[in-house]
Amino acid sequence: MTAERIALITGANKGIGRETARQLGVLGHTVWLGCRDVDRGTRAADELRAAGIQAHFVQLDITDEASVGAAVAHVEAQSGRLDVLVNNAGIGSGLQSPPSEEDLGSIAAVFEVNFFGTMRVTQAFLPLLRKSKEARIVMISSGLGSISLTADMTAPIWSLHATGYSASKTALNMFTVKLAKELLNEGIKVNAACPGSVATDMGGEWAPRTVEQGAVIAVRLATLGWMGPTGGFFHDGDGPRLAPYGW
Ligand SMILES: NC(=O)c1ccc[n+]([C@@H]2O[C@H](COP(=O)([O-])OP(=O)(O)OC[C@H]3O[C@@H](n4cnc5c(N)ncnc54)[C@H](OP(=O)(O)O)[C@@H]3O)[C@@H](O)[C@H]2O)c1
Repeated sequence: MTAERIALITGANKGIGRETARQLGVLGHTVWLGCRDVDRGTRAADELRAAGIQAHFVQLDITDEASVGAAVAHVEAQSGRLDVLVNNAGIGSGLQSPPSEEDLGSIAAVFEVNFFGTMRVTQAFLPLLRKSKEARIVMISSGLGSISLTADMTAPIWSLHATGYSASKTALNMFTVKLAKELLNEGIKVNAACPGSVATDMGGEWAPRTVEQGAVIAVRLATLGWMGPTGGFFHDGDGPRLAPYGW
């Protein structure tokens, strides 16, 4: 890895995204916090800078073509390239609704952020990632996107609903593998990360993992060496390695 790495993390004003930015910053990355709200994003970047991290805010609503285009232009003007893209921004819904009743409009809204928004950002930043010697793309997926886990009667998620959210992450996993194959010969590694059940606004205060734990797998995949995998789905397994996660 070259000494100075430039990373952009979407949805980085709070939760797993903010912590991923902090951990990458501690490792010496210059981090761009892509946040849709100017006040929340500026505050988060200010806090990280006060902790000694090279952190910058860029306005980024991943559902908004103009916002994404402006963010690409801003990062290009300031940094010239991008080494790491962590697609973290996401929303959840449908926990209370069985699949036979889940509202289609809500499902479409979830897909607009988690799948189409993530694809939009990735496609738009690809020219900047191609300027990097060793670019890494990380998709923050979810165990709920795993079909094998969903079908497992012994798994803790057996009784959970959230069909739209889960399917959006399954679709994101497919994009991960397709893109990894396309970019294989360019040395750009693309992997999906399962952060586990993390105590955030989305995960709820009783979730067992801290944001520090939840960000670990994203950071490992963002800092993979040239021998590292591509087109995989991983969690940290509460250990020092990449643990494959079932699709
Ligand atoms: N927490 C868990 O247990 C868990 C488990 C598995 C996977 N995940 C995944 O981890 C990622 C982060 O989740 P989290 O738990 O940290 O949730 P969170 O605390 O609710 O944070 C979500 C972030 O995404 C941002 N966001 C939402 N829509 C956006 C948009 N259109 N454009 C830009 N940013 C947008 C939010 O910004 P605002 O503050 O402006 O709303 C916020 O910064 C998500 O992809 C989630 O699906 C979480």
